[in-house]
Amino acid sequence: MKFTVLLSFLVLPLALAFPSFLEPQNTESMLPKDGPRPIDVTGIHVFVPPGDNDLRGPCPGLNALANHNYLPHDGLMTVEECLSIPEEVWGFGPDFSAIACNLAEMYGRSEGVRISLGGPARLADALGTSLDQQGLSGTHNQFESDSSPTRGDYYPFNGNNFNAQESLFRELLQHNTRPGIIEYRIARYNNSVQTNPYFFYGPVEMVISTATFLFTEDIMANFDPSHPEGDLSTAGLLSLFAFISDDATGHLQYHPGHERIPANWYRRPDPFTHATAAPRLKAMGDADRRVMIPGGNMGEVNTFTPMDISELTGGVYTEETLFEGDNLPCFCFQVLQLTMVANPKNTGTGTGTGVFLPGGPLAKSMEEWMCPKLKKLNEKMYDQYPGYKKRM
Ligand code: HEM
Ligand SMILES: *[C@@H]1O[C@H](CO)[C@@H](O)[C@H](O)[C@H]1NC(C)=O
Repeated sequence: MKFTVLLSFLVLPLALAFPSFLEPQNTESMLPKDGPRPIDVTGIHVFVPPGDNDLRGPCPGLNALANHNYLPHDGLMTVEECLSIPEEVWGFGPDFSAIACNLAEMYGRSEGVRISLGGPARLADALGTSLDQQGLSGTHNQFESDSSPTRGDYYPFNGNNFNAQESLFRELLQHNTRPGIIEYRIARYNNSVQTNPYFFYGPVEMVISTATFLFTEDIMANFDPSHPEGDLSTAGLLSLFAFISDDATGHLQYHPGHERIPANWYRRPDPFTHATAAPRLKAMGDADRRVMIPGGNMGEVNTFTPMDISELTGGVYTEETLFEGDNLPCFCFQVLQLTMVANPKNTGTGTGTGVFLPGGPLAKSMEEWMCPKLKKLNEKMYDQYPGYKKRM
C-alpha cells in the first residue's frame, strides 16, 4: 500500500511534466509513399531542445531523433525503438541497426531497462527504468571509440567523449565531400596516434569509429531530388552537429545535445546497409592501409603498434590478404559478429546476432563475398594495450 502511494507520488508529477513517459511513441513509417519527401520536422516532430534532465550523448544521429520526438525526448529508448526509428527516419539499415542496438544493449544498459543516449539517468532513476546502466557515453573502448569525427578522445579530453569539439568540427567542415571524409578519417587516426597515449584501435573500435565517418557522409547528408548522391552542406552540418555560426564573425557557438534536422532535409532513398558500406570500407583501405589495421599506442604518444593480423585471426587473414577481394568488409563484419557472439552478456536473446545466422542478410553477403571462414579472434592480443585495460 505504502509502496503504491509512493509510486504514484513519484510517477504522477513526472507524467504531468513529461507526458511522453506514458504516451506511446509515434512509430508510423517515415518511408515515402508517393516519392521522396523531406523528413518531417513539423508538428509533433518540431525541434525541441533537450531540457536539464534529457539525456544526450556521443551519437548526433540519435540525439537529433530525440530532439525531434522520434525517439523519446528524455533520451531513453527501448530496444524496439532503437531497432526501428533510426531505420525509418534516417534509412539506417536493419543490419546496422541490429548490430548497433545489440552493442548498446550489451555494454550500455542493464537488463530490462531503456537505453540511455548519454550517461546514467538521474530523472529516470526515480522510476527505476535506468538504474545503474552506463548509457552510450559510458561504453568507452567497448562501443564508444577514439578517433571519432567530432568527439574528442576519452582520456586526452578528461572523459568527455560525448560533446563535439569545435576544432574537430571545423576540420569536418573542411572535408565535407566523399574523398574529403576519407582523408579526414586518416587525419583523425593520425591525431589519436600523436596525442593519445591510450589510443586503442582494437578491431571493434576500428570498425565502429570508421563507420561513423561513413554515417556522416552517407546518412546525415541531404538526399534531396537534385542531390541523389547526398549533399553535406555547411549549413546542414552546423545544424546536425548542434553548432550555430555567426556569419559576420565566423564565430561558432556549440549547444551540446541540440542536434537539429534542417527543414527540407531528405532521407537517403535506400537503407544504408553492409552492402553500401563495403566499397566505402575498401576505399578507406586503398587510401591508407594503416587505418584498416587494428592496434594501439603503448602508453605513450607515437607508439602505435599494429596487431599481427595472422596472429589475431589464427592465420585466416594476413596483412596482405586482408586487402584482397572483399576480404576487408568480410573482416570488419566478422569482427562485429564474433565480438557479439563471444560476449558473456549476450544471452542469446540479443537483438543483433540474428543478422549473422544462416539465411540472415549478412550471412548471405558473406557467402557472396566468399569470406574466409574466421572462427575466432585472438582477444588475448588486446591485453598488451594500456587503452584496452582502461576500457569501461
Ligand atoms: C541504431 C542506433 C544507433 C546507435 C546505438 C548509435 C550509437 C553511437 C555511438 C555509441 C557512437 C559513438 C561511437 C564513437 O565514438 O566512435 C555513435 C557515433 C556516431 N553516430 Fe550513432 N548510433 C546509432 C545510429 C546512428 C544513425 C542513424 C546515425 C546517422 C544519422 C548515426 C551517426 C553517428 C555519427 C556521425 C557518429 C560520430 C559522432 C562524432 O564523433 O562526430 N548513428 N553512435
Ligand atoms: C598521416 O600520417 C602519415 C604518417 O605520419 C602521413 O604520411 C600522412 O600524410 C598523414 N595523413 C593525414 C591525412 O594527416
